Amino acid sequence: MKVAIIGQGYVGLTISAYAGEFYEVVGFDKNSRIVDQLNNGTSHIEGVESATLLRWIKAGRYRATTCEADIADADLVVIAVPTPLSDERKPDLSFIEAACKTIGENIDRPILVINESTSFPGTLRNYIKPAIEKYSKKSVVHQYAISPERVDPGRSDFNQKNTPRLFAGLTQESSAKTREFYSRFCDNLIEVSSPEVAEAAKLFENTFRQVNIALVNEFAQIAHSLGISVYETLDAANTKPYGFMKFTPSAGVGGHCIPVDPTYLAAAAEENGAPATFIRRANEVNLEMSEYIVNRVQADNNGSLQGKSVLIVGVAYKPNVADVRETAAELVIKHLRDRGAVVSWHDEVVGTWHEEISSPLSGADISIVITKHDVASIRDILASAPYVFDTTGRVPGAKGL
Ligand SMILES: NC(=O)c1ccc[n+]([C@@H]2O[C@H](COP(=O)([O-])OP(=O)(O)OC[C@H]3O[C@@H](n4cnc5c(N)ncnc54)[C@H](O)[C@@H]3O)[C@@H](O)[C@H]2O)c1
Repeated sequence: MKVAIIGQGYVGLTISAYAGEFYEVVGFDKNSRIVDQLNNGTSHIEGVESATLLRWIKAGRYRATTCEADIADADLVVIAVPTPLSDERKPDLSFIEAACKTIGENIDRPILVINESTSFPGTLRNYIKPAIEKYSKKSVVHQYAISPERVDPGRSDFNQKNTPRLFAGLTQESSAKTREFYSRFCDNLIEVSSPEVAEAAKLFENTFRQVNIALVNEFAQIAHSLGISVYETLDAANTKPYGFMKFTPSAGVGGHCIPVDPTYLAAAAEENGAPATFIRRANEVNLEMSEYIVNRVQADNNGSLQGKSVLIVGVAYKPNVADVRETAAELVIKHLRDRGAVVSWHDEVVGTWHEEISSPLSGADISIVITKHDVASIRDILASAPYVFDTTGRVPGAKGL
């Protein structure tokens, strides 16, 4: 069976690496730099080993391409393209639309189309299927299914094999074929009654994280106002063996999922006349953390940041990955610059960001730790400035939340 995977980023390349053991995979991506790199056997995604890619390339079971016609003879297509927010912070399905166009214009026999991109309930039925039909030259009848991706880049304990996977087809035939496809490399497949349930479940999982992170971020501010340690209090609450799940405070939420997916759910809710006030407020609380942190740092530094050199330590959105999408570091830097600080950043894992290279971990007036990678030594962080503020709870000896 030949499988075409549209989008070779975090989700698409991860699936390619697993599927390559059992199927012939063509990875279609619009980015020619990524495609060239992949065809040389170099992975750009944490958790996908270059050695695995090379193995599949040598065995003739993997090839990346920018040529749409290369997907024409695929028996199954997986959509794994971005689903960001527009400038007005509304769901932006333009990448999905482009993927549908590629499928519609290039595949003229019935196949199975599986969407792994995250989107609001009804996307598969009311958007993807009609869009592919719109672009198809012939009136070909494809099968359609959704299987929202749950990959957590950089994580080693849960992977494609042992992470339960939700799925649902628009028909029984598409559900059966979807099960058959994933069962080779996923141990636990959970079929739900409709694609809308699978789509909503994915959004709710990430909304659950978003609101709990907002809650703990608000609690960090309350604990500070009470003069108690937020970390000690959370550890104390966490001794309860049931009914509590520990989240830790931070400078905000980052990555492609948690800051974005809840807005997809809120948009769907509001479109259907249901309130999403809790989700909207959680988003605000998380966004406001950056200003709260800068206020704390300013207050500790004689009430002014004017002309101070401030080093941001860790700009990735989470530890041990190079992903800077929606990183909270961005807003912290903006608030610091608005107050006249001279800001630089250090992140060995990210290396280059906004066409700037990582600065040395030394010589600042103030260091603010946004993300603590394992490679960053606590001793070096503490020595990098006379005043160090830690937002992660992972730098003992620093000031912090
Ligand atoms: N990154 C995660 O941890 C994660 C986890 C679960 C779900 N998701 C969801 O999966 C989807 C993909 O996310 P990602 O993190 O893999 O994105 P990504 O940005 O890492 O990769 C997307 C890739 O798609 C390519 N692309 C864009 N438009 C294209 C098109 N029309 N045709 C071909 N290629 C195209 C881009 O060049 C890019 O390489 C999103 O909906 C996201 O919300 C992501």
